[in-house]
Amino acid sequence: MSTENQPLLEPTEFLFVCCQRGSEKAVKSEIAAAWPGLKFAFSRPGFLTFKRPPDTSLPLKFSLASTFARNSGWSVGKSVAKGAGDDAATLVAEVLKSPAAKHCQHVHVWQRDTHVPGQKGFEPGQSVLADEMAALIVGAPGMVNRKVPANQVAKANDLVLDVVLVEPNEWWFGFHYATTTAGRWPGGVPKIDASVEVISRAYFKLDEALRWAGIKIKPGDVCAEIGSAPGGACQFMLEQGAQVIGVDPAEMEEEVLNHENFTHMRRRGNEVRKKDLRNVRWLMADVNAAPTYTLDTVEEIVSSSSVDVRGVVLTLKLVDMKFADQIDAFRKRVKELGFSVVKTRQLAFNRGEICLVGVKDRFALRSTRQRVRAAKKP
Ligand SMILES: C[S@@+](CC[C@H](N)C(=O)[O-])C[C@H]1O[C@@H](n2cnc3c(N)ncnc32)[C@H](O)[C@@H]1O
Repeated sequence: MSTENQPLLEPTEFLFVCCQRGSEKAVKSEIAAAWPGLKFAFSRPGFLTFKRPPDTSLPLKFSLASTFARNSGWSVGKSVAKGAGDDAATLVAEVLKSPAAKHCQHVHVWQRDTHVPGQKGFEPGQSVLADEMAALIVGAPGMVNRKVPANQVAKANDLVLDVVLVEPNEWWFGFHYATTTAGRWPGGVPKIDASVEVISRAYFKLDEALRWAGIKIKPGDVCAEIGSAPGGACQFMLEQGAQVIGVDPAEMEEEVLNHENFTHMRRRGNEVRKKDLRNVRWLMADVNAAPTYTLDTVEEIVSSSSVDVRGVVLTLKLVDMKFADQIDAFRKRVKELGFSVVKTRQLAFNRGEICLVGVKDRFALRSTRQRVRAAKKP
């Protein structure tokens, strides 16, 4: 069923936004700058709502274009279990009264983050509880015949019924149209199995960054990472079949170090000989230093006439939250280095940091190519 055939839903009075715990203030200031009409209404760590006064128009298929909002949508209401007699079925029944439930093509249910990623074993992604509740919703009378997928990646532009388990017994629900890559993922988090053993969390971070940006590392691509030890991101790139150069004064894990497609340059990023990076297609950086240091190092490399990278994937550490206010300036700086598409996002697997991706040619991005191909179809 195409969205054109759907009865149009109306924007509601409130928006919801989910983010990493600790990034609520950054979300508020981004929204105040971009959408001054929206008024902050409510928050819990990792979950916020904003009121849209009647004179503030926002498209039904809005995209906040925010770095810190992991996902967002129109908020319809909440469903709260009041006592022991109120079970999940009561909460589901409340959610199903909404017109979004009637017309949705997908159901996404997720829990507000319980911790910062990596803390107390918490990693972002779908919880068992959220998947069970999603299954209850799509299996409820009135829904079951429509065979709506539960917690699957939504098709582009599809209407998604969103249910945020702000608490296990307090569900906030609403809807959005899956107009962005992350908007297609349940809770704005790609399905990455974070239970597998990897050298470091940077493995998941890079996986998410590339999926979000639509970058595909192909076998034989030469990739370099500044700040590569102990080696999770390099491990990921090697698994994609890349030739990988790790630049870091610290030691690499043996599994990476001994890989035939890996070269360790045991020095700082600003000490690397540029001609050694001449074949690099994708340049990554994940240095534990202020963003300005990372950007200086990357600028020095990509400005060299011996280097011609296609794109950069940078982790910018928010060692001080004052850097959150400088993200526009960071993007501008990377654009000025010749990267025509530059975007930023606090990835679900980032922790106190953000990801900046810059590509020279937007057709290097898989998702863009797919969109162009789709647009050409009769
Ligand atoms: C967060 S760790 C990187 C994790 C790594 N990306 C991974 O996949 O496991 C930060 C690294 O930056 C390195 N580092 C700090 N300053 C650096 C510099 N100027 N040049 C290169 N590496 C640097 C540190 O030695 C440290 O190993």
